[in-house]
Amino acid sequence: MHAPFAHRSAPLIAVHPPVPEEPALRTRPSPRPLSAALALLLCAAACTSGGGSHDDSDGVPGARPGAAGVGDRLFPGLGNGGYDVTRYRLTLGYSPDSHRLEGTAELTARTTRALSSLNLDLAGLRVRGATVDGEPARTARTGTELTLTPAAALPKGRTFKATIVYDGRPRTISDPDGSEEGWIETEDGAVGLGEPTGSMAWFPGNHHPSDKAAYDITITVPRGYTAVSNGELADRAEHGDRTTFHWRTAEPMASYLATVAIDDFDIHTTTTDGTLPQYVAVDPGLADRAADLPDQVTEVIDWETRTFGRYPFSSTGAIVADLPDLGYALETQTKPVFPSPPGEALLVHELAHQWFGDSVTPRAWKDMWLNEGFATYAEWLWEEDHDGRTAQEIFDDFYDGTDDESEGIWAFPPASPPSAGRVSDPPVYGRGAMVLHQVREAVGDKTFFAILRAWTRDHRHGNADTRQFIALCEKKSGQDLRDLFDVWLYGDGKPASATSPPR
Ligand code: TRP
Ligand code: ZN
Repeated sequence: MHAPFAHRSAPLIAVHPPVPEEPALRTRPSPRPLSAALALLLCAAACTSGGGSHDDSDGVPGARPGAAGVGDRLFPGLGNGGYDVTRYRLTLGYSPDSHRLEGTAELTARTTRALSSLNLDLAGLRVRGATVDGEPARTARTGTELTLTPAAALPKGRTFKATIVYDGRPRTISDPDGSEEGWIETEDGAVGLGEPTGSMAWFPGNHHPSDKAAYDITITVPRGYTAVSNGELADRAEHGDRTTFHWRTAEPMASYLATVAIDDFDIHTTTTDGTLPQYVAVDPGLADRAADLPDQVTEVIDWETRTFGRYPFSSTGAIVADLPDLGYALETQTKPVFPSPPGEALLVHELAHQWFGDSVTPRAWKDMWLNEGFATYAEWLWEEDHDGRTAQEIFDDFYDGTDDESEGIWAFPPASPPSAGRVSDPPVYGRGAMVLHQVREAVGDKTFFAILRAWTRDHRHGNADTRQFIALCEKKSGQDLRDLFDVWLYGDGKPASATSPPR
């Protein structure tokens, strides 16, 4: 804990009177009863953020404000330009009764060019103050952009720490496709879900999948609650009527895969094949229906490791929350979140994402089929390997339209979702899986599984795109697969024939 206010010993919960929602645009924190350290910080911020024109260059040649987005075609506002985060230290306090979150986000980042100011993504909440390298920084908000202006500009290549103190009742975000993400309150607790934009509802950050980072997430909750997050539990401490959980994610994580889940969970810990720590948290009301889940996670991880290559993270597990209306599960890193006890296929799907999506992450959202097509094909492979239909039979059922999940799969080519609201539509899932089956048919099983393992190995913990996948397929097979991808991945409408065209 470096910043003086990073872990306050004063009660984290409900020390402030209720505050109204923040206005859309704010340039300065308003006075409130605050902890001594924070009050000092704000006083200093007020002293330096006064009038006068701010010289953008500040003696640093070429220093300019960082961009408000990274240029994602589907999500132009996501992420921010000019820096790269290497670590997030989130120190959170949450009270399920008051629904209030108190947070300190400390980002360690490196500038990719000289910056006079930088942006973060944050939706809702109230910013109490910020520092850059320990010096007060000016804050301004427009929509979901939080701008920090440090006292002095940052030169290119500088490693810096930005610390933001914030609080409020985090919001639930409605996606363009109608689903809900961000902060979701449950009967007794809450869950943070971030795909594709929801993480900005509970911490400020560079919320684009191209900027992966390590995470330390420390959450203090009332005694009796368990706070679960990604990675491994580094520490757990009881103090008075509260408990603090410190979770650590050493391997790079895209922010949409970060989660916290707070509830009176039943916890099942074991080790998968004797070495990999496994942590399964289940809402106690769902315990009966999830009795087999710990064993199932172990079995699926073993099978997927054999099929896709080495498991990419230091631990595994699952979180089963009671969210009957959520309508989806999410592959949050190391511990996917399920809205109810998952069936076998869904478990296979979310755990397959640990390789495809979590470890190998698309560089841009249009390449979502690299997540969903692969996780869906994992379901087909599992069924084929467990006395169900063969992948070919499932492919045929999708082509004929007899599989329940085949509806709508021809609406657009899997690698070109037409808008942000459609990145989770059926073409990305079902037709994405069909692309992989076509590749398998063209190159044969031996080469196909070698391609899958090379993909997870070559891009482990990184970002990748469709062009790289096509190049890998062609390299491993020695074949020109352009026609196959043109028809199945990029072609409009249903291909005239279920087999790939002759080459
Ligand atoms: N990725 C989730 C899955 O495993 C589904 C999902 C949830 C999703 N929210 C999303 C997909 C937002 C795209 C966008 O299938
Ligand atoms: Zn998925």
